[in-house]
Amino acid sequence: MDRLEKIILLTSVGLMSAFFVALLAASEIGKVSVPPCLPPSATYTQPRIDTLPDGTLRIFYVSRMWRFDPDYVEVPRGTPVEIYLVTSDVVHGLYIPYTNVNIMAVPGAVNKYTHLFTKSGMYDVVCHEYCGSSHQGMRAQIVVR
Ligand code: CUA
Repeated sequence: MDRLEKIILLTSVGLMSAFFVALLAASEIGKVSVPPCLPPSATYTQPRIDTLPDGTLRIFYVSRMWRFDPDYVEVPRGTPVEIYLVTSDVVHGLYIPYTNVNIMAVPGAVNKYTHLFTKSGMYDVVCHEYCGSSHQGMRAQIVVR
């Protein structure tokens, strides 16, 4: 075995050892730092509908397998609607067909979108992110009067 072969062999063994140690360290770090599923603030984790003094509607949606809470909301036409979305389990999505409302529900995060419903009618709220066996039935409704 010549000198260059020894150097390459020793370097390879050294690199493999370093990767192995890094893998062990990463798995240990992963054990202690499991992120919480919900943000600490109860402001966003309590499903409800609030009305601001200027008339703006705030809908606080909590998504979970396999429903949105609240699952039925009535909205006056032409009222700005702030939609807040969190998840209490896995990743979900909130999509309202025929509008620009398309929000992700990611564990540990609060996402918000503001929309103005200009047409009356019934709007479906559907989950657009595969979230398990009953994903296709995860829906809610918004009625604009
Ligand atoms: Cu929730 Cu798909």
